[in-house]
Amino acid sequence: MEIKGFETVNSLPCLYHSDLDILVLSDIHLGLEGSVTSKGGYVPKFQLKDIIGDIREAKQETDASRILVNGDLKNEFNKNYYTEKKEVEKFIKEIKKIFKDVLIVRGNHDNFLEDILERNGIKLRDRYSEGGVLFIHGHKSIDNLKEFETVVIGHEHPALALQDEIGVSERFDCILYGGTDEDADIVVLPAFSKISNGTRINETPKERASITNPQKPYKHIITKASSSV
Ligand SMILES: [Fe+2]
Repeated sequence: MEIKGFETVNSLPCLYHSDLDILVLSDIHLGLEGSVTSKGGYVPKFQLKDIIGDIREAKQETDASRILVNGDLKNEFNKNYYTEKKEVEKFIKEIKKIFKDVLIVRGNHDNFLEDILERNGIKLRDRYSEGGVLFIHGHKSIDNLKEFETVVIGHEHPALALQDEIGVSERFDCILYGGTDEDADIVVLPAFSKISNGTRINETPKERASITNPQKPYKHIITKASSSV
């Protein structure tokens, strides 16, 4: 399926732009299991392996030579956990083997990331633009939207909450797309993380969609189900 110049990739929570030859995904939140465990919960570690598996599938499907992570590569913003640091380093080393070029945009969770990336020859960017498309995490207001045809953000972790007739609720990650007040199109990527919480867009008041135009409400497509913690 085509969305604003991007294509969906199987049922994965990412998009591919063939003209730019770039695979884009957001909100991986590496180290989330460790953060939950340190706060008294318990989630077994599985994200890193599964996420790399999904990225390999996306590479196989698209043959993209570049990947862009649109913010929140890692999870913990208060501390630099040793295990999280190791996971980030392993992730970077693995994706550098898969793609010719790795682009990382800063998210609000990406404190302490710059040094790890620099050691691996990657720059941490506040935003990246090419061919009229702006990639930015979306946790701050966006300047100069008029300069772009399309803006791609993450941050919101959009999901649909669906309930069956006996009241069992399931959350489905989804990609949102629509227009903005400044006429640029907008695409909101779901979280690539397997376990992060999502914004249940069908239960969220429209006023919360601050950068979208209420006259041009979001449309959505479902990617795949995920659980929440
Ligand atoms: Fe996030």
